[in-house]
Amino acid sequence: MSSSPLPRPVEILPSVLTADYARLGEACIGLEAGGVDRIHWDVMDGNFVPNLSFGADIIRSLRPVVGLPFEAHLMVVEPTWILESMVAAGCERITVHAEACTHLHRTLGRIAELGVAAGVALNPGTPAEAVADVLDLVDLVLVMTVNPGFGGQSYLASMEPKIARVRSMIDASGRDIDLEVDGGIAPATIAAAATAGANAFVVGSAMFRDPEGFTHATADLRSRAEAAGAR
Ligand code: DX5
Ligand code: ZN
Repeated sequence: MSSSPLPRPVEILPSVLTADYARLGEACIGLEAGGVDRIHWDVMDGNFVPNLSFGADIIRSLRPVVGLPFEAHLMVVEPTWILESMVAAGCERITVHAEACTHLHRTLGRIAELGVAAGVALNPGTPAEAVADVLDLVDLVLVMTVNPGFGGQSYLASMEPKIARVRSMIDASGRDIDLEVDGGIAPATIAAAATAGANAFVVGSAMFRDPEGFTHATADLRSRAEAAGAR
């Protein structure tokens, strides 16, 4: 393991799936004041995952409330139909699941055509190699560290070899691609994910349940990730 710095800046990306939806605007304002990097919207279709969350109308309604960039994590089967409305709602990065797209290459190309950054996500059971032939089309790879569908699940440390494999593939590509992890990221787990090679961290429960608030949670998580930046 070398002691080289992280190849990309650490990003702390709160998932508002865990927020009190009656006070979603206040949560977004608080997160922005707390120093997070962007807001992560978990869009669930009740088909790809056994849960429903929010769609473009709700995301759009929060767009004027904060200046933070928005990213959408689409847990949606064949999501092409929803891409345009996500861009119109103000999402600057859109991630689709490799498992949910029959024509992944075409879907990622469509996201780029819409003028936003494209991401590809991998479920825990999907190998790193599933992104090998689309790296030229993406700005981020999202390695799920839980099975998607719900917040508050336990971090799967068994994903760390996959994080490391994706990091090697990204490095070999020579492209600036974020390696994001999502699920169970907390003070106790973020260092291991960073050491494996992640630089962008989606945080749901650990952000909303920190008794000291968003500013503390964000700074604490960021410093733990930065300190563990070796890979
Ligand atoms: C899971 C979602 C995650 C989740 C993260 O399907 O993609 O973004 O809300 O929540 P925690 O941090 O609680 O695992
Ligand atoms: Zn997510």
